[in-house]
Amino acid sequence: MSDTLTIKDNRTGKDYEIDIVDGNISAKDLRQIKINQGDFGMMSYDPGFMNTANCTSRITDLHGSEGILRYRGYPIEQLAEKSTFLDVVYLLFNGDLPNRQESSDWEERLTHHTMIHEKTKSFLKGFNYDAHPMGVFISTVAALSTFYPDARNVDDPDVRLLQACRLIGKTPTIASYAYRNSRGLPFIYPDNDLSYTGNFLNMMYRMVEPRYQAHPVLERALDILFILHADHEQNCSTSAMRNIASSKADPFVSVAGAAAALYGPSHGGANEAVLNMLKEIGTKDKVADYMNRCKDGELRLMGFGHRVYKNYDPRARIVKKVAEEVFEVTGRNPLIDVAMELERIALEDDYFVSRKLYPNVDFYSGLIYEAMGFPMEAFTVLFAIPRTAGWLAQWMEQMEDPEFRIARPRQNYQGPGERHVPDDYKS
Ligand code: CMC
Repeated sequence: MSDTLTIKDNRTGKDYEIDIVDGNISAKDLRQIKINQGDFGMMSYDPGFMNTANCTSRITDLHGSEGILRYRGYPIEQLAEKSTFLDVVYLLFNGDLPNRQESSDWEERLTHHTMIHEKTKSFLKGFNYDAHPMGVFISTVAALSTFYPDARNVDDPDVRLLQACRLIGKTPTIASYAYRNSRGLPFIYPDNDLSYTGNFLNMMYRMVEPRYQAHPVLERALDILFILHADHEQNCSTSAMRNIASSKADPFVSVAGAAAALYGPSHGGANEAVLNMLKEIGTKDKVADYMNRCKDGELRLMGFGHRVYKNYDPRARIVKKVAEEVFEVTGRNPLIDVAMELERIALEDDYFVSRKLYPNVDFYSGLIYEAMGFPMEAFTVLFAIPRTAGWLAQWMEQMEDPEFRIARPRQNYQGPGERHVPDDYKS
């Protein structure tokens, strides 16, 4: 039996045999289906990319109906339990986990890049005190492009890796500076003796003490959250990254563009939206009423539903567990009761069950961030920092892909045919 698909065009009565490769057909093969020689040929039509693969990737494996997520073949649960965020970045970039020596060399290499150019400070000071941290983050990451003109040489693999290390090193510094600027606090320089998340918390929260020591449970909790957010195959922001980078734009502006895609409440902005929603509901007794408004189509239950997960998001399960560990240290965030009541009703309610709507990664993460003292507006930045690793891993893979092409979708044009501008159209 050959791996082909036979298509019969009932307009012409003609049969076409199309190759099946890795279980898929190439959309380009549809172009041979024509009603006459002058016909452009058939295209596939897929708004929102509901069923279109735009690349071959070997990084993240996701089985949405079973709730399975693996980075380079390793289950997310095992990575969250046994690994660290920086080792996961190594895994995403290199294809395998580092050994002890590789891990410490890698950490040392990345911490060389945690400082940002002093001029960035004056740039940051130009923002209003109440500027949304995601707007500040996106603009500042894009501005780094102007400090590293070498980054434009995207065809050189060594240059690519150098920029990727710069970005992994600098994003926590940018995020903390954005926060401190909004509070009128002095910027804190990175401390490379601390862990990746320990240093980030130090840059966020240090006041007059000579050294800020993050609580180890909170430092580890943030590291786990970073692991969970590191990559998620071809989501909206990663596809934006690949789209922008396909024109060979440098990685700083490409990551800024990907972060812009993440900002929206349907994607990474959902963690902030969830907390707003929980605050609006306020108490458990108001949950049922809010759920009814979601079912009537008036509202969306934020932190619920996913394009690819039609089962419990495995990341949400881990986040829920981490939340309990964090609350042991910080005290229980009372909104967790509202969240758990929402989840309880949704998992039993036919509206949510029939549409396979389950909690996603953003449902419980905001409760942890709030308990750790992060302001709500900073939540999506806490998603962007680790996702930078995924964007960059996907970008480096893309740049080495033999099928690399500039991204340029087609359209289904249904507007007017040719018409003429009247001489007196303004009269
Ligand atoms: N609350 C209520 N109804 C929903 C929700 C929700 N959160 N999500 C989907 N639905 C309904 C939707 O109304 C539709 O119903 P019907 O078939 O009757 O019209 C059905 O479920 C299918 O929804 P869809 O909009 O076609 O699904 P999608 O795959 O296009 O959207 C989504 C996915 C994530 C944008 C959507 O589920 C959503 O808006 N969720 C809330 C926002 C959110 O939590 N986003 C974070 C996603 S996870 C983090 C990340 O990776 O970005």
